Amino acid sequence: LTLTSCGLEASPSQSGELLRSQAPLPEPFKVPLPIPPVKRPVRTEAGVDYYRVVQRKASLDILPGLKTEVLGYDGLLPGPTFDVRSGRTTVVEQVNQLDVPTAVHLHGGHTPAASDGWPLDLLMPPGEHSGHAGHHTMTGGDVKTGSRTYTYPNTQRAATLWYHDHRMDYTAPQVYRGLFGLHLIRDDEEDQLPLPKGDREIPLIIADRAFAADGSFLYPAAKDGPGVESKYMEGVIGDVTLVNGAPWPVHEVDAVRYRLRILNAANARRYELAFDKGPANFVQIGSDGGLLDAPIEHETLVIAPAERFDVIVDFSQYQPGDEVTLVNKLDNNSNVLRFKVARKASDDSRIPAKLSSYAILPKPSGVVRREWRFRRGDAGGHKGWTINGKPFDPEVMQAQVKLDQDEIWSFVTDVHHPVHVHLAPFQVLSRRGKGRGPYDAGWKDTVDIRPAEVVEVLVKFTAHKGKYLIHCHNLEHEDMAMMAGFETI
Ligand code: C2O
Ligand code: CU
Repeated sequence: LTLTSCGLEASPSQSGELLRSQAPLPEPFKVPLPIPPVKRPVRTEAGVDYYRVVQRKASLDILPGLKTEVLGYDGLLPGPTFDVRSGRTTVVEQVNQLDVPTAVHLHGGHTPAASDGWPLDLLMPPGEHSGHAGHHTMTGGDVKTGSRTYTYPNTQRAATLWYHDHRMDYTAPQVYRGLFGLHLIRDDEEDQLPLPKGDREIPLIIADRAFAADGSFLYPAAKDGPGVESKYMEGVIGDVTLVNGAPWPVHEVDAVRYRLRILNAANARRYELAFDKGPANFVQIGSDGGLLDAPIEHETLVIAPAERFDVIVDFSQYQPGDEVTLVNKLDNNSNVLRFKVARKASDDSRIPAKLSSYAILPKPSGVVRREWRFRRGDAGGHKGWTINGKPFDPEVMQAQVKLDQDEIWSFVTDVHHPVHVHLAPFQVLSRRGKGRGPYDAGWKDTVDIRPAEVVEVLVKFTAHKGKYLIHCHNLEHEDMAMMAGFETI
């Protein structure tokens, strides 16, 4: 194991406008950690599982004594977890019973373009017709009304993916109100490892929110137009941390190893997760795109919006009766989640020194290079964010990328941006001209670029021709146009 700390780089930072809740907030660590239910197929055939999800409003008990209206997949926040096998196709019929258009994206999925959730390939609620989606006259999208079927081949290794809304200009408010969930892919290589399993494998979907006095979500939507009020262009951050939809929950554990699949589903908040008392560290076994080659030990875990870290925590280092709290060091050690170590128990799990067979790629020479500049933009009356000087325009493809060709992409920033590429994962080659950073190991699909940094990644698209996206995953930045189309050919 190598112990890392974030010495070399610019320190992570939090930007964004803090929204303070007006509702009375609960004491932390009273609510048990919920685990999102695993979605069951409605029908199964050779090689294909069929599912049906209803996007609907629901009134949930998130804060004590108050109701919060959410937009939820199956009315849940987070949505149900898909737990599927690599190589088996998942077909999901999404039914829109909301009063807003949606678009579902499988984040990290190796997905054909027609199912990738292009922001104008809308699913309209019943009774609404194509061409009118909120304020815009939408053009160029494949619009369906009532229901829409998404096909995910899952032709990729085991990994922690997630799905969420991707409607143009409205992703941030719609994800904030609940449209997100996990999609786990498993495979034989991973199953054979002696990792913690069953109820010792826990998803932790972390997201911050703020609540109005009546319990509803506070979100500063623009009054006349899409997206967020411009005051919030840095991002919306809230004062309540939800884990799996519950505020500062508590979870009872045995004094054994646990596997935690951590997703930062926040719109704009970064976390630096740490335990309030030792000796436990995080042993990272996987990243966005599945298992690492070998485990990496971290004292703290810096996680930007949309990133996933798959970690093992060994609670046998604590005594029964001990309480250990996950806190966010980027926010004055504010609370996230508490573990209560209940009892000793037997544990046959191990962390193998070699986790998977994937190769760390060397930096190739003589390949196609592209630069993507993420900046605040004031071009042509656009006040927002840009990529290569341009706000998102669904009619403009900023690059044509050949399949099966190695490319080196450089991400260049002004301020902090978590950069995400659809369709294929990448490997980080360098940060600020030096090696990979401590959190850059493995296959990534989202990489946090710190202020005034350049990060080089190696990417190769191996299948599916069509229109895909690169964008900032600070969702307010994304809605304020920090997104670009590219085409695979
Ligand atoms: Cu997580 Cu383009 O999205
Ligand atoms: Cu950004």
